[in-house]
Amino acid sequence: MSIVQCDVLIIGAGGAGLRAAIAVSEANPQLKIGIVSKVYPMRSHTVSAEGGAAAVIKEDDSLEHHAYDTISGGDWLSDQDAVELFVNQAPKEMIRLEHWGCPWSREQNGTVAVRPFGGMKMKRTWFAADKTGFHLLHTLFQTTLKHENLLRFDEWFVTRLLVEDNRCQGAIALEIATGKMTAIKAKSTIICTGGAGKVFPFTTNAAIKTGDGMAVAYRAGIPLKDMEFVQYHPTGLPFTGILITEAARAEGGYLLNKDEYRYLQDYDLGKPSSKPVLRSMELGPRDRLSQAFVKEQEKGRTYEGEYGHFVHLDIRHLGEKIINSKLPFVRELCIKYENLDPVKEKIPVRPVVHYMMGGIDTNIEAETVLPGLYAAGECACVSINGANRLGSNSLTELLVFGAIAGRNAANYATQQNGFSKGLEAQYKNEANRIEQNFLKKKEGKVKIADIRKAMNNTLEAGAGIYRTETSLKKSQEDIQELKERFKYIKMDDSSITFNTELIAALELSCMLDVAEAVIQSGLHRRESRGSHQRTDFPNRDDEKFLTHSLAYQKEDGPPDIKFKPVTITKWAPGERIYGR
Ligand code: FUM
Repeated sequence: MSIVQCDVLIIGAGGAGLRAAIAVSEANPQLKIGIVSKVYPMRSHTVSAEGGAAAVIKEDDSLEHHAYDTISGGDWLSDQDAVELFVNQAPKEMIRLEHWGCPWSREQNGTVAVRPFGGMKMKRTWFAADKTGFHLLHTLFQTTLKHENLLRFDEWFVTRLLVEDNRCQGAIALEIATGKMTAIKAKSTIICTGGAGKVFPFTTNAAIKTGDGMAVAYRAGIPLKDMEFVQYHPTGLPFTGILITEAARAEGGYLLNKDEYRYLQDYDLGKPSSKPVLRSMELGPRDRLSQAFVKEQEKGRTYEGEYGHFVHLDIRHLGEKIINSKLPFVRELCIKYENLDPVKEKIPVRPVVHYMMGGIDTNIEAETVLPGLYAAGECACVSINGANRLGSNSLTELLVFGAIAGRNAANYATQQNGFSKGLEAQYKNEANRIEQNFLKKKEGKVKIADIRKAMNNTLEAGAGIYRTETSLKKSQEDIQELKERFKYIKMDDSSITFNTELIAALELSCMLDVAEAVIQSGLHRRESRGSHQRTDFPNRDDEKFLTHSLAYQKEDGPPDIKFKPVTITKWAPGERIYGR
């Protein structure tokens, strides 16, 4: 039996995980910190964030404005105490990043530059050209290297949490290179594993975003909150789903339908202007822009290509100089993946799954209902994003709540003395489960890829931008059937060294759990709000649904759904008005 012991275990080494690690170490440099990541940290999905990170910095802006934009953007489902905390901490975190070396882009006078972003009434998005996530992750990673109490487990995969005596005491993880299972005992644990976009067929998310952290928490009895809220980003490349950052629209890019018409003017998002206007047209919120695309498609005003319907994003009028200085990555991506130069040609784009507003239920201290377990970043739902996240709030969120999770987990760990006895038995059971259900599986006919594809298709068909009771029910039946079929998957590789088939199977089992929570939560929310649009219940219903959904896993069948109230501090629910 392989056992490692640490004080704080962090699962996931993207932005939230690394920020949490630094916070733990700063809170108590004596603590031994373990950080497990299924990929090398610099390959975490934070690296691919492009447009920027929001925080109030300019004199004409205010925390009140940032809070209001976030809450109205989230269709009043955000917890307002969490939003207030978030906007307050945001500038401090960004300046801290600056001090750690993050190369934020600058105005001519040397101050930090900000750009407008969708749904925000002020320019407040800090950026590092259009590679913000890359620079942010580098800065955090390099800062962690200064902390000698940090022990990294790169390319390890967590298969379950260690829970005994009603507290989380670490996790069991598999070292991908050797197949060895290890119990990593920890006095407190933070999950920072990112989202689950790969549940859907078409996503900006990297292949690693399979909801593993959400699933291990869900299996340990922690509810997944607001899972019905899945964000489609309006501008992904049609074939690959690669993100074309909102910054392209912030700099002045237009969305054109096949009649060369700026169609957003037909969707209560304001009137066209040659310069970008805050909270208007192309700078409207993502849910509204993605829904407008579907309506255009229904009117026959989109192009139909080899990979589905699309419209055009036109940035040619910005000119080569601006494109090269502000949007170099957009140009590079278009040249490499679409074989077109956006300086001269329009970019084909379509909505694509980008972000899960829902996740592991936490309070504003990043605590889950299980003592000793914390979560931060996209895998968590605090909730500041409500029913629709505003672009550029997520990088800031992972800094703010990563730091909070780290500090609180450090305090909790400092107060614990030792571990419960039953952990060894859990280790044996888990090692046995992986061996019997996967590595030594003799009979099995169903291909992993077939289940994954069927899961992807039913999610898109049943729980896409628009949903109905019928579509969601059908998807729920499909997922339950796929979970049954998963028991009979065919495993060709029984080796223990770099068994990528095993990892694919484990990831798929996580995605199936996340998928059932998305669908069941969507079924129970009989209203339309933000990114959750039910054509059979087209209006927002604050009387019944100003509540967070909580999905609890059951032994068999879809999860139980409960609801808890949204925290309102000072912004009474109102109409979401854009373009006026
Ligand atoms: O479009 C973007 O650059 C995405 C930013 C975000 O999701 O925050």
